[in-house]
Amino acid sequence: MCGIIAYIGKNEAYPILIKGLQRLEYRGYDSAGIALMNGNLNIYKKKGKVQELVDFAKDRNISGTSGIGHTRWATHGKPDDTNAHPHTSGNGRLTLVHNGIIENYALIKQALENKGHTFKSQTDTEVLVHLIEEVQKQDNLPIEEAVRVALTRVVGAYAIVVLDRLDPDKLVAARKGSPLVLGIGDDEFFLASDGTPIVEHTKKVIYLADEHIATVHRDGHYEIRTIDNELHTPFVDELYMEIERMEKGGYDYFMLKEIYEQPTTIMDAMRGRINAEEGWAHLGGMGEHVDKIKNANRFIILGCGTSWHAGLIAEYLFEDLARISVEVEYASEFRYRHPVITDKDVVIAISQSGETADTYAALELAKKNGAFLYGIVNVVGSSIARLTDAGSYIHCGPEIGVASTKAFTAQVTLLTLMALQIGRERGTISDEYFHRLLTELENIPEKVGKVLNSNEKIKYIAGEIKDSPNAMYLGRGYNFPVALEGALKLKEISYIHAEGYPAAEMKHGPIALIDENMPVIVIATNKSLNDKIVSNIQEVKARKGIVIAIVTEGDHEISRIADYTIEIPDTEEPFTPLLSVIPLQLLSYHIAVMRGCNVDQPRNLAKSVTVE
Ligand code: G6P
Repeated sequence: MCGIIAYIGKNEAYPILIKGLQRLEYRGYDSAGIALMNGNLNIYKKKGKVQELVDFAKDRNISGTSGIGHTRWATHGKPDDTNAHPHTSGNGRLTLVHNGIIENYALIKQALENKGHTFKSQTDTEVLVHLIEEVQKQDNLPIEEAVRVALTRVVGAYAIVVLDRLDPDKLVAARKGSPLVLGIGDDEFFLASDGTPIVEHTKKVIYLADEHIATVHRDGHYEIRTIDNELHTPFVDELYMEIERMEKGGYDYFMLKEIYEQPTTIMDAMRGRINAEEGWAHLGGMGEHVDKIKNANRFIILGCGTSWHAGLIAEYLFEDLARISVEVEYASEFRYRHPVITDKDVVIAISQSGETADTYAALELAKKNGAFLYGIVNVVGSSIARLTDAGSYIHCGPEIGVASTKAFTAQVTLLTLMALQIGRERGTISDEYFHRLLTELENIPEKVGKVLNSNEKIKYIAGEIKDSPNAMYLGRGYNFPVALEGALKLKEISYIHAEGYPAAEMKHGPIALIDENMPVIVIATNKSLNDKIVSNIQEVKARKGIVIAIVTEGDHEISRIADYTIEIPDTEEPFTPLLSVIPLQLLSYHIAVMRGCNVDQPRNLAKSVTVE
């Protein structure tokens, strides 16, 4: 949700800013802008993708060895050139980029207007830069001090970087609630919303903490203070990221590349955490907390979007394998209810980005009430990873396509390992079943590879249904959450209205929608419920619906009644989601491409949702 990049040093800032913005574009892509300092201050802003900005700046003065850049996902004010960041103060001295929301901006704006300030945009960000200007003017403060004092008056979330035209050899950055990483090079500094624009320049980073303000100087020194003006000695981390993972590597879209990476990413999620031959599954992150976790009164699983769907699958896994009672909650609902939480609860947060505002806030609430927090997160060093008491990274590398694919299967893999380990610890799985499951889990990456071989067939089916205005996804048991995920993938990237339902619920309403124009995608791979699924398919066929069935290899009964079938290899029932979701990812990908949609950057969406 908005990407920030900034640079100060001895090199030209422009190429660093533009490449950085392109890396961050997944966070928002409705407008982009940069400010470059080279004696003069040049600001270029453009509605649309970063490429529009590049085209606009092409013949203009782009020199300068410091600068700030921003790619926006609009919250306040429509996406246009004026509302794009950077924003400047009334006197033109300060320029600022911002990610987050200033909740009390209306009050501050009113007070500033009373003092004679006028505003060009409809953004909360412009209010913030005017506020800093006002504080700076009143007491003639250096910029870092003006930023600090101004921020004490702000309610909301922010990651900001500020440039002062009259103090051009420094940048001031601050964060609360929205992420900001400081990269330390040789006499140069980088600031960005995540490590992806920084990693090719330096591996030394500081993850700024909430209400910390960093001042970085062109001569290579830096200082971090808290909002209460206390000097802070930060921990310098090492950034681990493979640059190839951030390139498309010959694929048309990141999403397709990420779908194809899944045999590897599922393996990576398991690496060092399972050994079927020796008969163990072990998450290092549970470490000394394992007793606390296995004796939990219940698990509360929190997440949003696709991560919430992974949580729903985990409910089946933990109940089946570890016999622990589980509640899966939308973080956004949980935080605003009055949930009953005790210190005997273990809260599991699932988040690819580790920055989702609702998940973060729900965790804070749970922590306040004494629950133990466990994170299942992809982005190392992210806010959620740092807030939780313990956790495990899913290690699937940067996920850039806005629609989550490889993070989902890596999350489910990790949750499966967790359920197996806890089940074993609690003695709720028989030896024989435990070993069978371990052996089969190790086979899953190869089986995912086999499902990917059906790509051409899936593409053909996509062509047959691409013009339908609606689609329905049905599944039972472990595959009910997969139905939800399939429907989400389709609506996110192809803008086709899609609903996921437990197959048996169809007769309580959705069946009324079925006619000869309705594609119904049925995940029919549960051995335990096969007869019931066959009946559901018959019910759809009786109403002339078009049935696309995901079936287990060799299931001829369903193949005979469905219009199209896609086979997945046979596996243990708890692992079917890891295979059955793959055709659904490919199906929505091909439909979106055929409909001319921008698969990686679907309209109105952003990958990292740092606003409520
Ligand atoms: C956004 C993304 C989804 C993601 C959800 C939760 O809506 O577009 O792909 O599932 O946020 O994000 P998280 O980073 O917490 O998993």
